[in-house]
Amino acid sequence: MNRKLLCVAVLLFLADAIPASAQKKAVDAEAHPWWQHAVFLEIYPRSFADSNNDGIGDLNGITSKLDYLRWLGVDAIWITPMYPSPQVDFGYDVSDYENVDPEYGTLKDMDRLIAQSKQRNMRIILDFVMNHTSDKHPWFVESASSRINPKRDWYVWRDGKGPGIPPNNWSAVFGGPGWKYDSRTDQWYYHFFYPQQPDLNWRNPDVEAAMFDVTRWWYKRGVAGFRLDAVDALFENPQLTDNPFIKGANGEMVEQRIYNTKLPEDHDVLQRLRRVADEYGAVLIGETWTDNIDQLKQYYGAHAAELQMPMDFMFTTVNKLSAPDFRKQIEAVESSGGWPVYVMSNHDIRRAYDRYGDGEHNDQIAKLIASFYLTLRGTPIMYYGEEIGMENNDPNRIEDVMDPIGRLNWPKNKGRDGERTPMQWNAETNAGFSSVKPWNPVGPRYKEYNVEIEKRNPNSILNYYHNLLKLRHTESAFLDGTYIPLNEDDANVLAYVRSYKGQNILVVLNMSGTSREFRPNLEAKGLSAKTARLLLASADDESQERVDSIRLHPFEAYIAELK
Ligand code: GLC
Ligand code: CA
Repeated sequence: MNRKLLCVAVLLFLADAIPASAQKKAVDAEAHPWWQHAVFLEIYPRSFADSNNDGIGDLNGITSKLDYLRWLGVDAIWITPMYPSPQVDFGYDVSDYENVDPEYGTLKDMDRLIAQSKQRNMRIILDFVMNHTSDKHPWFVESASSRINPKRDWYVWRDGKGPGIPPNNWSAVFGGPGWKYDSRTDQWYYHFFYPQQPDLNWRNPDVEAAMFDVTRWWYKRGVAGFRLDAVDALFENPQLTDNPFIKGANGEMVEQRIYNTKLPEDHDVLQRLRRVADEYGAVLIGETWTDNIDQLKQYYGAHAAELQMPMDFMFTTVNKLSAPDFRKQIEAVESSGGWPVYVMSNHDIRRAYDRYGDGEHNDQIAKLIASFYLTLRGTPIMYYGEEIGMENNDPNRIEDVMDPIGRLNWPKNKGRDGERTPMQWNAETNAGFSSVKPWNPVGPRYKEYNVEIEKRNPNSILNYYHNLLKLRHTESAFLDGTYIPLNEDDANVLAYVRSYKGQNILVVLNMSGTSREFRPNLEAKGLSAKTARLLLASADDESQERVDSIRLHPFEAYIAELK
């Protein structure tokens, strides 16, 4: 190779090896960091696409679908844990943070996925399970081996209160006590989730250093950021004070986890983790379950020094279509001062299709929900399959349940298998997900609801998402516009304008099952328009271009530019 060629080769190699530093400069003319204009999609790798036909989705499966995702309008993919794991909590029990589970592929496959995504101008976000490891992680194996092992203090070990009595009254989120007795060393270790998920001791600086290095290791490989798992559970009160209990709605006693969640120290660690992310221009997304807007605000941090994207989950607690409740939630996040992050579904909660569907107009409602959270000011995080109207497919018998929560709490809580069923690609065997029986059964409606069939139907949910995301990527009002609520006392129609440099886009969402006539109060908001240019509507026959009085079908979404 001559010198010049060698130089080019080295440059190409560097360009590939340090995409993170390039991302540092990835801000547009208006200084928006890339993630503010990006559409994110959460992929549950086990269920997306199975490339080697063993019934389990894998990284190469994701790579094979990148063109589809690009066509759909996805800019960044968050992959839930794909690290080596005993799979007790389907990957949320990590036994090696710097590798890929053989079920999902190899590091080479990951490198290829990152490179192939980059070629399509898409980014890869990994899941950082920072609160706990697997009990099979070498750190824990060492820690458990003796009281004097150097890794002993990497986890939370304590003496019991007496024989067979745990150190305090904390319970595990997934059921049972939050402590497990280890007879070898006659102490108990703490686990916020399953016993196979021992909590790391974040008070030990060596834990912090090792875990921060894990993120650096992936940034250097080209990962663009992390979704941080269970961020409110990192620290525990060192005195291990018992949690109080209060009476719940049905008279049951409910633990108030005030001594083992949402400790101020959580924020200190997240801020330091952010400084590491900033070295690589990476983005941090938080699994931030919050009760109120003040808690959410804390995750953005004073001077925006903490998480760029704390997810607003308060929204997912609005489990019915309600214009007033939706409006209230948007206003809360809008007033937080941070960049909103909207989530409607994920791998832990029932799919939006089921939560909001009324059983009769579900497809219309699926389009309505899309029109809602994909047109707001902020970054949306979609959940795979939502774009084709996938529904929950819960197990019918306890023998079929795979998620341990479902087995523990059957039948009150059937677990999370239902929202994790295989992606429906076509009408063939196993919905085109795999040629063998999938690890989790395919939903029964896959012959109608799948990518191939919906792509051909201009009125499908899929094409609606496609068209909507196209608008979202091209209209500055959607990207950068302010949010102006309209008709704020309307109990049935949620309406707003997204406004940017004189461009005004009207979004009108009929959240009721009856037809309505809607008169937007534009003047009261300092806006005026004679007519409208129809951009998109969920009703197949929509043709009106009106702003004074808009007729809406049940659950119709009407999106038009004011003229
Ligand atoms: C998060 C994950 C969930 C997992 C838990 C324990 O809540 O989203 O799926 O079970 O953390 O890691
Ligand atoms: Ca596979």
